[in-house]
Amino acid sequence: MRKLSLSFVLLFLAATIQAQDINLLPPEKTGGKPFFETVSERRSERTFVKREMPLQTLSNLLWVANGFNRPDKRTAPTGMNRQEMELYVVCDTGVYFYDAQQHLLKLIAHGDFKAALGQPQINSSAAVSVVMVADSDKSSIENARISTGYISQNIYLFAASEDLGTVARGSFNRDELSKALQLKSNQTVMLVQPVGYLK
Ligand SMILES: Cc1cc2nc3c(=O)[nH]c(=O)nc-3n(C[C@H](O)[C@H](O)[C@H](O)COP(=O)(O)O)c2cc1C
Repeated sequence: MRKLSLSFVLLFLAATIQAQDINLLPPEKTGGKPFFETVSERRSERTFVKREMPLQTLSNLLWVANGFNRPDKRTAPTGMNRQEMELYVVCDTGVYFYDAQQHLLKLIAHGDFKAALGQPQINSSAAVSVVMVADSDKSSIENARISTGYISQNIYLFAASEDLGTVARGSFNRDELSKALQLKSNQTVMLVQPVGYLK
């Protein structure tokens, strides 16, 4: 009986932990390298040392990539402020949706979905992979391609400023990744961008 109740408690605890969204920390809006130094160091890196990314760094990364820097506008521009781009995060523990307005990571699914990102030699050692997703109900695919570039460059510059490594990745299996992210028919994966540690 005692054994049974302990198993029940453990099961309940596991379910509670799995159901958790991640409350991101307010972004640090000071610090980093000077602008010209940052641009000078912008580059693609494909080899990472496996390390967990601290919550503050992840919070800063997502905010820089496509967070709100004004009540109704973001760090990356979009045509007519349609805000057709959303970010998803794939890490060792699961897949999350970045709710930029609430600055929160909403759990989509628990588990290891990194295989869906393709190019395992790059993605398996990254701390996180950011997936850029366009909503065709909000804007054209042509505009979404341009918006994707702005977000990607924000991530590149953040990585350069923080001595992290990153690479834009256009080669992924769209069907597999869409399934892993549980996307709807109006949502299209545009680009994958792993971010990881260089040492
Ligand atoms: C749209 C786009 C797609 C890319 N796809 C890949 C990719 O699938 N795999 C990869 O290793 N690099 C990919 N890259 C990175 C480029 O190879 C890289 O930016 C280019 O070689 C220039 O190097 P640099 O970023 O260090 O200046 C991609 C870059 C862009 C902009």
